Amino acid sequence: MEVVVLRLGHRPERDQRVTTHVGLLSRALGAKGMYLAGQDSGIVRSISRVVEQWGGDFFIEDKVKWRRCIEEWQKGGGKVVHLTMYGLPVRECEMAIRDAGKILVVVGAEKVPGEVYGLADWNIAVTNQPHSEIASLAVLLDRLFLGAELSADYPGAKIRIVPCGKGKQTESL
Ligand SMILES: C[S@@+](CC[C@H](N)C(=O)[O-])C[C@H]1O[C@@H](n2cnc3c(N)ncnc32)[C@H](O)[C@@H]1O
Repeated sequence: MEVVVLRLGHRPERDQRVTTHVGLLSRALGAKGMYLAGQDSGIVRSISRVVEQWGGDFFIEDKVKWRRCIEEWQKGGGKVVHLTMYGLPVRECEMAIRDAGKILVVVGAEKVPGEVYGLADWNIAVTNQPHSEIASLAVLLDRLFLGAELSADYPGAKIRIVPCGKGKQTESL
C-alpha cells in the first residue's frame, strides 16, 4: 500500500520540532513522503539529510496548498484519512482503509480547518482523547502496514545500525 502524509497548520516559530518528528516518523514507519502545507526550508533540509544518510526514497515537499493537495490526491484515485480525536475509532475502519490501497493521511498542528472534515474520506481517531499527531500517526501506520514496516530496508543508506543488546554499533556502507 502507498501512504503519504499531509502536515497542516505548521507554524515555523512553534512547530519545527514536532513537524520534523512527523516527517521522521512517517519515513521510519513506511510512508512514501510528506507534504507540508507551509514553508519551512529548514525542515526540508533536515529530513533530506536523514534520507541521504540513512537511505530509502522518502520525499518531502513544502509550500503545498492543502486543499489542492487533497483534491488532486482524490482525483488520482487515492483516499484521504484525517486523524482527529473527534473521528471514528481506528479499529472500526482500518480494514477498509487498508483495502483502499492509496492513502493520504492528514495531521494537524493548530486547529484544523473545518472543511478538512468534509473533504476526508475518513475522520479517524486513535482513542477519542486529545494527544499528539506523532503518536496517532505511529499507531495508524503500524495498523495499516500490520507491523511489516518495522523491518523495512532502506536502499542507498550510507550508514546502518547493527542491532545489539548493549551499547551502540554502526556500520558504514
Ligand atoms: C495537538 S493536536 C491539536 C488539535 C486541535 N486542537 C484541533 O482541535 O484540531 C494536533 C493533531 O494531533 C492529532 N491528534 C491528536 N489527538 C488525536 C487522536 N486522539 N486521534 C487522532 N489524531 C489525534 C490530530 O491530527 C491533530 O490535528
